[in-house]
Amino acid sequence: MKFDRNILITGGAGFIGSCVVQFMVKKYPNYRIINLDKLTYAGNLENLVSVEGESNYEFVKGDILDQPLVESIMRDKQVDGVLHLAAESHVDRSITNPDEFVMTNVLGTLTMLNAAKAVWNGDFDNKLFYHISTDEVYGSLGETGAFTEDTPYDPKSPYSASKASSDHMVRAYFNTYDFPIVISNCSNNYGPFQFPEKLIPLAINNLKTGKPIPIYGEGLNIRDWLYVEDHARAIDMIFHNGKPGETYNVGGHNEWKNIDLINLLCDIMDRKLGKEDGACRSEITYVADRLGHDMRYAVDSSKLSGELGWEAKENFRERLEETIDWYLENESWLENVTSGDYAKYYEEKYG
Ligand code: NAD
Ligand code: TYD
Repeated sequence: MKFDRNILITGGAGFIGSCVVQFMVKKYPNYRIINLDKLTYAGNLENLVSVEGESNYEFVKGDILDQPLVESIMRDKQVDGVLHLAAESHVDRSITNPDEFVMTNVLGTLTMLNAAKAVWNGDFDNKLFYHISTDEVYGSLGETGAFTEDTPYDPKSPYSASKASSDHMVRAYFNTYDFPIVISNCSNNYGPFQFPEKLIPLAINNLKTGKPIPIYGEGLNIRDWLYVEDHARAIDMIFHNGKPGETYNVGGHNEWKNIDLINLLCDIMDRKLGKEDGACRSEITYVADRLGHDMRYAVDSSKLSGELGWEAKENFRERLEETIDWYLENESWLENVTSGDYAKYYEEKYG
């Protein structure tokens, strides 16, 4: 079959990547979507059962650091668009093991750039390398304001430093080689299929399995939460209509103090688990703060709304409730991802 476009998505078996893969495979039957993923602890083919048999979807297990592999996929499949999401993505893990973040996020992105540049070989017509990044590259906000595309980079954690470094390299390829790139920097995502090391699925899983909810410091840190499908829609719009060389911020206009968010989650969980009011809140346990913990993130996405017409559509309370239902209903998914190494990770991190 001849496809209108051949798109390589990296990290498509992870939380956001699997949502983007499903979104693109279903919306564009005339595009071939090739998913390259190493299947680290965070990558899981169970996230993709809904597209497994689709004729416009292909999976390749492999490492973004393997340049000959990336080049051969790009050549053989005549890839004209790259959506680069593969990364190490958890701040806490970056604090204990920064080297791995430099390998995957910095050198991995460089390898992807080099592979695409070699294969496209100066013929950049209708080609695009789209690098998916995070708002954390901008650092930490005080009580007011929001990150815009002009906010100077000021990453504070090994994770955000590695993402910032990769963003700079992607931009340098545009500036130096006219290589066609676009970047987006998004706020915290939530939704189904998120690995339960991140706050929301960790809290749900702990309540479900009778463990306390660890809240770092005083729980006053603020994050701007966006439903993962809203992010996938933004990625689709930016991929198709974003201007090469540009950066677009993506955010939820939905700031929550960690403790307020967890209180809300606990109240919903009381109902779902048939417990008396306040039972889940009593599982909240304040623990030592994360090292270098960023205080507040908030994203100004007015450039994206003004230029491309994107808005966060999803209602937070409704989607949070649905997300909780999903984790409660998908017991075997949760059990599968928390078996094996997860117990060791949890024990080492939380004791
Ligand atoms: P994730 O950790 O859930 O998934 C990462 C995926 O990348 C996994 O499937 C993993 O197997 C794969 N991967 C890791 N190393 C690889 C390698 N060397 N080669 C091939 N595949 C590899 O991450 P996520 O939360 O879905 O985040 C996806 C992207 O979006 C990341 O680049 C992240 O920085 C960015 N982002 C995430 C958030 C968020 O809230 N989760 C917010 C903004 C931006
Ligand atoms: P996380 O989901 O790890 O995302 P990020 O660090 O990329 O924003 O954490 C979200 C917030 O929740 C952050 O302020 C750290 C805090 N947090 C806890 O209080 N306890 C936890 O067990 C975890 C994982 C996070």
